[in-house]
Amino acid sequence: MFRRNMLCSSLFVLTFLGFLSFFASSQVADDVECLRGIKATLSDPEASLATWRFGNTTPGFICNFEGVTCWNSSENRVLDLELQSFKLSGRIPESLKYCGKSLQRLSLSNNSLSSEIPIEICTWLPFLVSVDFSRNRLSGAIPPSFSNCSYLNELVLSDNELSGAIPTEFGSLKRLKKLSVANNRLSGMVPASLSGFGEEDFKGNKGLCGSPLESMCGGMSKKKRVAVIVAAGVGGALVSLLLSLGFYWWCSKITTNNKIETNSK
Ligand SMILES: *[C@@H]1O[C@H](CO)[C@@H](O)[C@H](O)[C@H]1NC(C)=O
Ligand SMILES: *[C@@H]1O[C@H](CO)[C@@H](O)[C@H](O)[C@H]1NC(C)=O
Ligand SMILES: *[C@@H]1O[C@H](CO)[C@@H](O)[C@H](O)[C@H]1NC(C)=O
Repeated sequence: MFRRNMLCSSLFVLTFLGFLSFFASSQVADDVECLRGIKATLSDPEASLATWRFGNTTPGFICNFEGVTCWNSSENRVLDLELQSFKLSGRIPESLKYCGKSLQRLSLSNNSLSSEIPIEICTWLPFLVSVDFSRNRLSGAIPPSFSNCSYLNELVLSDNELSGAIPTEFGSLKRLKKLSVANNRLSGMVPASLSGFGEEDFKGNKGLCGSPLESMCGGMSKKKRVAVIVAAGVGGALVSLLLSLGFYWWCSKITTNNKIETNSK
């Protein structure tokens, strides 16, 4: 009886420990899976991701990878992923979603990525504070769902091939301090909620109009309007100059005529 109890409780403890370790390892495996998927998805002709080796699985082993910063160097939880100028090409990897619990900063700037921006980006990575996708070949529309990344402070999408309008939903990004969509193929009106950003954040998009840009939507640009006002002013001045000269000439003719008349009397 006593021995059977012992056996039962040890079996229970063992299986429970097994369950716990499985749970713990699946937690940790997420961020490893994330990076493994990124490496598998992107084309890396210059071997910029050569330090990303997945043989070793000690806690924190991914924290030594080039471009990876962890919350704590002895835990596999990625805080920042900074892969700028790595000469990577391909699409924005879906496996980023496995970094969703931990990732706050993501830079893929200055590579050759050529996909659309996945509309699920903020479902995958809800805690993003900073996103930099600048200097790539990303095309398609800017997903309105960016507004679901409610912690977003910085969103840099400049120098791509993005088209369509800037989503009005961006107005709900209350923490947004830095924004650039310069040098894309965007069109339509800059949402009024973004008119506080600089002109340089929107420049280089032929179809884009509205404050803070010079081109007014459905009307003349600021420069053109100034030119029209100046032209109208100059024209008006010329007309009044001609009129006054005409009057002067007319009046002086009358007075000379009068003088001639009085003299001849
Ligand atoms: C980092 O993680 C290790 C292991 O989980 C822990 O012992 C340590 O206290 C953590 N350090 C910090 C600064 O959180
Ligand atoms: C972009 O990456 C290239 C290498 O691919 C590098 O020479 C260049 O300096 C980078 N530009 C910026 C602005 O980081
Ligand atoms: C934000 O997320 C919710 C829930 O996932 C979704 O229903 C909504 O459409 C998203 N907002 C935008 C602008 O996509």
